[in-house]
Amino acid sequence: MKRNMTLTVLTVAVLSMGTQAMKAQELLPQPKKAIFGKGTFNPKRGVITMEKIHDAGHGKEHYKLHITPDTMRVLYADSTGLFYATQTISQLRKGELLPTCDIEDWPSYEWRGCMIDVSRHFFPLSFLKKQVNVLSHYKVNRLHLHLTDAGGWRLQIDRYPELTKKAAWRTESDWTKWWIDNDRRYMQEGDPEAYGGYYTKAEMRELVAYAAQKGITVVPEIEMPGHSEELTAAIPELKCEGNAEAQGDVCPSNENTYATLHNILDEVMEVFPSKWIHIGGDEAGKGSWAKCPTCQRKARLLGLRSTADLQGYLIQRIAAYLRLEGREAIGWDEVLDDSLSTYAPSLGDNVNVMVWRDIKAARRAMSRGHNVILSPGDYYLDRYQDAPPTEPFAGGSYQPLRNLWTFDPAPYRADGLEGKVLGVQGNLWTEYIKTEDYAEYMLYPRELAIAEVGWSGRSRSYEELSQAVVAQYPWLTTAQHVNAFDIRREKGDRKEKLKPVRHKAVGAKVTYHQPYSPSYVGQGDGTLTDGMCGGWSYGDGRWQGFMQRRDTTKAPFDITIDLGEVRRFSTVSLDFMQSDGAWVFYPSRVNISVSNDGEHFVPIYNKEYARERLKVVGTRTVTTTSKKKNQARFIRITAHEEHPGEWVFTDEVKVY
Ligand code: ACM
Ligand code: ZN
Repeated sequence: MKRNMTLTVLTVAVLSMGTQAMKAQELLPQPKKAIFGKGTFNPKRGVITMEKIHDAGHGKEHYKLHITPDTMRVLYADSTGLFYATQTISQLRKGELLPTCDIEDWPSYEWRGCMIDVSRHFFPLSFLKKQVNVLSHYKVNRLHLHLTDAGGWRLQIDRYPELTKKAAWRTESDWTKWWIDNDRRYMQEGDPEAYGGYYTKAEMRELVAYAAQKGITVVPEIEMPGHSEELTAAIPELKCEGNAEAQGDVCPSNENTYATLHNILDEVMEVFPSKWIHIGGDEAGKGSWAKCPTCQRKARLLGLRSTADLQGYLIQRIAAYLRLEGREAIGWDEVLDDSLSTYAPSLGDNVNVMVWRDIKAARRAMSRGHNVILSPGDYYLDRYQDAPPTEPFAGGSYQPLRNLWTFDPAPYRADGLEGKVLGVQGNLWTEYIKTEDYAEYMLYPRELAIAEVGWSGRSRSYEELSQAVVAQYPWLTTAQHVNAFDIRREKGDRKEKLKPVRHKAVGAKVTYHQPYSPSYVGQGDGTLTDGMCGGWSYGDGRWQGFMQRRDTTKAPFDITIDLGEVRRFSTVSLDFMQSDGAWVFYPSRVNISVSNDGEHFVPIYNKEYARERLKVVGTRTVTTTSKKKNQARFIRITAHEEHPGEWVFTDEVKVY
């Protein structure tokens, strides 16, 4: 009975949908419950009351709004709930007036995060405060600052002044030039050539207090044991024995490493009251550990399988230290990799896992008792959000708002596991993002979609989400001067992807002489002859990836296509993708040959290419051109890369 009544009220609201009722769709994030009436309320004339309500099980962010033509009641569980009520009111407001409505709202996830990498490029305090204004308007509640990561150490640490006198400044602003072409050197603060910067403790305290007023916890990240170039540059004793050259890993077997990290974390905790302290943990190289006598001895003493497992040992010790101080560590999902079974069975209690590489790791982590934050590749905001040829250079593949919206965290929220999903987070990596304008362009509107998922779940269609996003532009761009990307002028995916191609090899069997990567299978064995071309993203299921292996110089891409019988054809054509930031390159050499019997092949194409560096993601078409028609049943194609670790990606072999 009660349920039917609710339905009746909803139906009435929808049937009487005037201009006011449209606003429910425009709100972002969408409230849990919202029913709109016909009239309006004028805050200048009507009665406004605010009441604190007891926690109804929805936490301190819970709020209710009851707006009639004469009164507005705001009910809130805590100051954060009150703040969120005011943000919703600000979205509801059209000029002077508010629509009459009943809204009740609370978040789906407790962690609704945004990470900004301030190490690869430094952004001033004013920029961070502006982002706090914007993010909090959309009920984001965690600002994760990636404060260290080779690009520069960004936090004043009194005990180790060299971290900011030297390791916060580099010789070159352009990331590729500094990281790849130059020697990754730091410079002294004050040198006219020095590029970089850092936040004083006073500045970070100011940010922490400012953000707290808007419901945002600032979560600092200090990277360890990898991505620690600044640390080893400022304090060279932290490098492994016998490894004098610059490197990214600290020695996990040197007691001095622990003393130093504890000292640094003490100062970090003094500035950041956050319950969570992020300790990185991702992508340690570990090469120097294998050669280090101290690490070898330590691994033996601890009974570890290898020196690589010292990562788990370090993470465990640091997490335990933070736990003693009443804090909790967060690490990227590599913290799951090492030595859990052999050394640190209780790691789960001490570390929250930020899952990024393979989202399936979330369940593994939760089954071991870790809480997780989901920040999948879909939420990497340094990727292109529109057709790469017309966009500024970006780090990785194509991730428009529409694709981002397909990621649904709900299935990971499984019952019965010891750990839980705390929430979701978008990550703005800034290797290629040098300006404040460009950072905002990449953040918005994509982070708004993540905010929506974190607050209300993924309960509306992409069309509804994009309508809500469009409704945000006046506030976002005009009122807040945010340089957001405008989805109304989106160019969209590669035109080749939009419709199937017809050619003579559609459905032909493909034999792989080298396997495609299990990470980039496309549609499996039929991918290259299914008549479907790929889009701007090599991970879109249409492209297939092949990596140049370290243990062989054989071509990573080596296939034979069987047309089933001898056919006449004039050209063989295929596209390769290049995405420099992702180590995906056009091949250095392509060979194509044909055969009637599958044994004796006659070359029809053989070309070498000089490596070019591309500023954007691109595709290159390789097409054979022979004057007379080929007559053959089998077509063999090989493609090489220059160096191990580089990738060949192709989507379709077209035969005409
Ligand atoms: C990461 O992207 N290395 C966390
Ligand atoms: Zn060592």
